[in-house]
Amino acid sequence: MSFALETRRRRTFAIISHPDAGKTTLTEKLLLFSGAIQIAGSVKARKASRHATSDWMEIEKQRGISVASSVMQMLYRDHVINLLDTPGHKDFSEDTYRVLTAVDSALMVIDAANGVEAQTRRLIEVCRQRDTPIITFVNKMDREVREPLDILDEIERELGMPCVPMTWPVGQGKTFGGIMNLRTQTMTVFDSGQERLPQDFETIPLADRDTLLKRFGYEFETAEQSMELAAGASPAWDREAFLAGKQTPVFFGSGVNNFGVMEVLDALVDLAPSPQPRTSTTLVNRQPVTKEIQPEDPNFAGVVFKVQANMDANHRDRIAFVRMASGKYTPGMKLKVQRTAKELRPTSVVTFLSQRREAVDEAYAGDIIGFTTHGGVQLGDTITDGASLQFTGLPFFAPELFMTVVLKNPLRTKQLQQGLAQLGEEGAIQVFRPSVGGPMLLGAVGQLQFEVVQHRLKAEYDADVRLEGCQYTGARWITADTPAELRAFTDAYPMRMAQDAADTLAYLCTSPYDVRLAQERFPKIHFHPLREHA
Ligand code: G4P
Repeated sequence: MSFALETRRRRTFAIISHPDAGKTTLTEKLLLFSGAIQIAGSVKARKASRHATSDWMEIEKQRGISVASSVMQMLYRDHVINLLDTPGHKDFSEDTYRVLTAVDSALMVIDAANGVEAQTRRLIEVCRQRDTPIITFVNKMDREVREPLDILDEIERELGMPCVPMTWPVGQGKTFGGIMNLRTQTMTVFDSGQERLPQDFETIPLADRDTLLKRFGYEFETAEQSMELAAGASPAWDREAFLAGKQTPVFFGSGVNNFGVMEVLDALVDLAPSPQPRTSTTLVNRQPVTKEIQPEDPNFAGVVFKVQANMDANHRDRIAFVRMASGKYTPGMKLKVQRTAKELRPTSVVTFLSQRREAVDEAYAGDIIGFTTHGGVQLGDTITDGASLQFTGLPFFAPELFMTVVLKNPLRTKQLQQGLAQLGEEGAIQVFRPSVGGPMLLGAVGQLQFEVVQHRLKAEYDADVRLEGCQYTGARWITADTPAELRAFTDAYPMRMAQDAADTLAYLCTSPYDVRLAQERFPKIHFHPLREHA
């Protein structure tokens, strides 16, 4: 198969939701119906076994939240579908943002009773900034939930883009009769149970209205009316608008009952985009020039969007998750880390077939491959087979919470430094080294990040630390047009200067006014609330 065909048949998407909306359940059903897994329950079981075997995930067990994101690949209708899970908890939103930089579309799961919840709202914001196309699944229709028109209205308001219903529910909760599929002009009749396969559900043509009225009576009539109202209020389906992140197709169903899920899987193949070009910069005559890397470009290029310590506590190696932007990966090929210009020497290279890790045979743009290394790879690194370029757009947010690290046993300083360097490179936390010396500072976006890091320092590096509050409430990365301007600034605020894990200079603040005052005093200094790996 040619490069163009291989990339065209790939779909890489993230599944996003507020905790408990049904993301894990839907993920499992997508895997089940694509044939990637045989038994329902195995995703949940895996979640559970991960809890049991992994030490540092103990914290996840205690909190009942999903800390780590994972990758799953499935084959469906001759398409390769890469599903990227995202942590649901808001304290790990940075991780989620980075996952969203690695996908071409997102599947948003909404609980039909709760509508758009806090965490979904943040994720929508990120998708909108990037114009990521969103497919919406309204879940739990087998429960007493809100009226579909009401839910659509809320999604439209929150998303800031029109919804185009692709299926429409007949009834809900006890009276849930099924969904009308507007594309196939059929009604699929609901039946509860976990064992049912998509083909087992009865379908009735919408043209057979008498039969539908006889069976579903009032519910059907009401559904017809509300669907008409919805159709009148929404624009016609326009794939270009969807791909530009300007409208979202909406599906209704019940994940736990395997219902309405097949429609979503088909939508991923039929509607969702194949791998898109990705922006990079390259130096031409020492000047940075922006370049779009096309997925069918035969040269290998990819970006590390996630680094994770191996779940196995006995090994110190880490997996760098690379989203391929172009080219083909084959085992043994020579690759280079652009930042260091060093050859990448992985101990193994894996793909994430359904849920197993397997050695990669070949991979193309859109695929996620995992390089197991002992270091030398950082979040945001660009990997190529030679070409000199750097992908942009992997965000680091200025932390809003800070703690100082105090080592309980001073003899473990080396271990602490190693641990902080590695956890900083992973992006688990941001580590700041004050320029004037003194204890290291940890910066986080969410409180739980501190707990995870404290736990991991002890479990993985045998460094028992105490975290203490400090006066800082924010940070800004700083740049200046000339070294002299930068020097004048750092000389004026020596106590406020620190360097992060990537050695980027930051200014630490103790109040929101700090930046304003410093900016007034030094108008030529640039203060950045966001650092993009470049
Ligand atoms: P998450 O990954 O988004 O956090 O959600 P998850 O799939 O774990 O689902 C959260 C809860 O909602 C689970 O119940 C799950 O069974 C239930 N659920 C998912 N889809 C549906 C649906 O379509 N209808 C109904 N009625 N419930 C649904 P739980 O009691 O927390 O867990 P479990 O014991 O059932 O596994």
